[in-house]
Amino acid sequence: MRIAISTGGGDAPGLNAVIRAAVLSAINRGWDVLGIKRGYAGLLGEDEVIPLTKDTVRGIAHLGGTILRTTNRGNPFHYPIRQPDGTIVEVDRSGELIARAHDLGIDAIITIGGDGSLAIGQRLFECGVKIVGVPKTIDNDVSGTVNTFGFDTAVNTAIEAIDKLHTTAESHDRVIVMEVMGRHAGFIALYSGLAGTADVILIPEIPYDIERVCEKIMARDRAGRHFSIVVTAEGAYPVGGEESSIGDSLPGQERRVGGVANKIAREVQNRTGKECRSLTLGHLQRGGMPTGYDRLLATRFGGAAVRAVADGLFGHMVALQSPHIVCIPIAQVLTTTKRVDPSSDIVLTARATGISFGD
Ligand code: F6P
Repeated sequence: MRIAISTGGGDAPGLNAVIRAAVLSAINRGWDVLGIKRGYAGLLGEDEVIPLTKDTVRGIAHLGGTILRTTNRGNPFHYPIRQPDGTIVEVDRSGELIARAHDLGIDAIITIGGDGSLAIGQRLFECGVKIVGVPKTIDNDVSGTVNTFGFDTAVNTAIEAIDKLHTTAESHDRVIVMEVMGRHAGFIALYSGLAGTADVILIPEIPYDIERVCEKIMARDRAGRHFSIVVTAEGAYPVGGEESSIGDSLPGQERRVGGVANKIAREVQNRTGKECRSLTLGHLQRGGMPTGYDRLLATRFGGAAVRAVADGLFGHMVALQSPHIVCIPIAQVLTTTKRVDPSSDIVLTARATGISFGD
């Protein structure tokens, strides 16, 4: 048996722990393991395919990033190719990828990625490739699994930042608006905002009214709390408005969401006269050591993915359905998007403790 492992899309703390667990589990069964570098680029002649041995995965469980590298511009079905005149055309290179995998004697591929990589995995599976998926994203927006690894690390990074912002905001009687990642989902903002005791949390699942945001800030001001912390998801948007975006995506890349914190800080300052500052936490949330929770979840996913290959559960994704790790069809995962439920206990508790969602 020879399996290959690929990491695709944005990186997330815990990728190396998945790789390590999968490699050791496979080798201990007597299988061979290959690593496809940079998404599927290794199979398309744009990067390498390397042997993964016990030595190559030694001492990596606690490291952020991915030893296999990754890309969010490597969809083999829409591969961006730069033309001599500088324009970009997208070509379907899936046939080439499948042929190369066949030549290398690859029996199955474990693809570790978010919804984009899982959708590619599903298409490859429909083309006959034996795929097992492992869900990864700091955004926690993959359905069918309670959590994805990387999310807990991102939330902890955001909480640490909120704690630090509290002391400086209070010293200066300022409003500080912090933007966290999450794309179209508000999980990172909600979890870090509640645990970090923010005053306002803005998420895409609950469109905000800037007047309500200002009312909360001024109510605190009247009560002698002259500073406020607003945590906003990058995908938050006002009632009747739309997500802010940064217009510098590269070919083959999704539109970049963001810029909302700066906009909110300006609006709040204009309306309340209070001094406002903003920051975007950005890729700090994706870097560094995975938390213990993420390391364990990633390790469990890696081991489960190899068991799924052994059991012939192709076209399936490993998932956490607490307390169990299960396997569910990727096709089923792709039919629903996971978003914050505005009636969930975590939103209710946030409201009950006085946090405003700007609605
Ligand atoms: O999906 C993970 C994520 O970090 C999102 O939260 C964010 O919008 C996006 O990726 C950023 O992507 P990039 O690394 O391409 O800027």
